[in-house]
Amino acid sequence: MSRLKPDQLRSHRFFGPDDLRSFGHRSRHKQLGINDEEYQGKPVIAILNTWNDLLPCHSHFRQRAEEIKRGIWQAGGYPVEMPVMGLSETFMKPTSMFYRNMLAMEVEETLRCHPIDGAVLMGGCDKTVPALLMGAAMVDLPVIFMPGGAMMRASWRGEQLASGTDVWRYWAERGAGRLSCEDWQDFEDHITPGPGHCMTMGTASTMTSVTETLGLTLPGASSIPAVHAAHSRMAAACGLRIVDMVWEDLKPSRYLTRKAFENAITADMAIGGSTNAIIHLTALAKRAGVDLPLKLFDDISRRTPVLANLKPSGKYVMADFYDAGGLPALLNRIRHLLHLDAPTVFGKTLGECLDGSEVFNDEVILPLDKPLSEEGGTVILKGNLAPDSAVIKTVAASPALLQHKGPAVVFKDYPDLQKRIHDPSLGITENHVLVMQNAGPIGAPGIPESGMLPLPNYLLAQGVRDILRISDARMSGTSYGTCVLHVSPEASVGGPLALVQDGDLIELDVAKRSLTLHVDEGELERRRAAWTPPEKRYSRGYGKLFEEQVTQAHEGCDFKFLHHDGSCTPDPGIH
Ligand code: FES
Repeated sequence: MSRLKPDQLRSHRFFGPDDLRSFGHRSRHKQLGINDEEYQGKPVIAILNTWNDLLPCHSHFRQRAEEIKRGIWQAGGYPVEMPVMGLSETFMKPTSMFYRNMLAMEVEETLRCHPIDGAVLMGGCDKTVPALLMGAAMVDLPVIFMPGGAMMRASWRGEQLASGTDVWRYWAERGAGRLSCEDWQDFEDHITPGPGHCMTMGTASTMTSVTETLGLTLPGASSIPAVHAAHSRMAAACGLRIVDMVWEDLKPSRYLTRKAFENAITADMAIGGSTNAIIHLTALAKRAGVDLPLKLFDDISRRTPVLANLKPSGKYVMADFYDAGGLPALLNRIRHLLHLDAPTVFGKTLGECLDGSEVFNDEVILPLDKPLSEEGGTVILKGNLAPDSAVIKTVAASPALLQHKGPAVVFKDYPDLQKRIHDPSLGITENHVLVMQNAGPIGAPGIPESGMLPLPNYLLAQGVRDILRISDARMSGTSYGTCVLHVSPEASVGGPLALVQDGDLIELDVAKRSLTLHVDEGELERRRAAWTPPEKRYSRGYGKLFEEQVTQAHEGCDFKFLHHDGSCTPDPGIH
């Protein structure tokens, strides 16, 4: 492996020359109290820290940043901590997804404009992961990803809980009248026990697992619980490794290949990953210039069993997954489905990283002959209701509803649903199909996680816990139920979802991958002619940019102008 010389470092262009601009850069370091010997000729490593006080999943990130710095110093690098926007899944409105592309832009420009040679990306809570990767992919400086780790186990009244998943479950019990206000308050005190992202195989665990499979983390890093001492050690190891990566000039373009994406999709299917991974991987692939048709997700799904017995599809949580051997052990079980020669930031191939990885608990990481599902956790649907595609997480759905035909009950948007869903006069039965419109990338805006539509309380009281639901929204990776999501094109741009009316018959047939609106084409044409698009929401600012630029779900919801176009954004000159 050839190594860069100090005067080949990108940062050398800022600090090395004997000119006025470099004088400024050096003298301002002295203003910071930094001696020449502390940074001159050393790789400058940015630590992109997505910590903030309203991002509870990253509340340990300040300490982890110090541990990363420790590793960087020890390896002979010069660490600089750069705060970037934290995307708080729980606190950001209208939805953290609305800001994924904004963080991606911030990451890209932060790396590009500063004297940086490489970076450690600190992410965990859902959208931080794809945003950091999408931004870094466009600058193509050496990076390593430090996954934030999942929360520790939560328990309540003797039962193991999972954030998100069990919130929806107990909320339904409350709706059914089986949980008092006092019970609910007590539950609230126990559901989120400390630092780290959601402890299910939700979007955060899915995306960090996918990132590890792409080769962008240290082996096993994504499965380490946030508060485990191994997590601190992993953070320091990220700092140690990134310095070498800079000297070896190992850039994301080396890892983000078609083979790596196929591995990532395979991992996503085998862990029963979040539907959100499909949108994020599609967006990241477009940034990386890799062709990743949605059909590939479905092809891989058909040949990949779900082995992770984790909530929301299964029984256990991420701490159990770690104890059972974690992602390397699971991937080792499906190594025949992976491109083992794909490189990783660790400096070994994926296959070499998996060698010797053992499963220590067959209940948590299931054997190949006893999978949670013979096929992958999510499938891609098409039909006259979703000409460009829709997604369903079959492994978290009710098997009996995977082939279902019923009359629609239509809500024009989420506020309409909130207002009317519990109205007994709607007469919703378990045979009905709930349809929500205008919750897509532009319609909501930001394609929020409202796709696990709530059931009417009167149905819950009857013991019904699932019916078929369809929308152009996403759902949380921690959610479950028979929910068809990401219907594309969305209703707000005139997709067929906008034309559905109460009583229309809708048919889902997962085996055939079809989603059909049984209304004849002439009638649909009449409805289409009468349809008027909703008014634009924004006249200025980021919202206007979002509305004008965001792509549909099947295209990854990125901004059109940020797609990889084969050109190279110039590295800024030093003036
Ligand atoms: Fe941060 Fe679930 S709220 S990962």
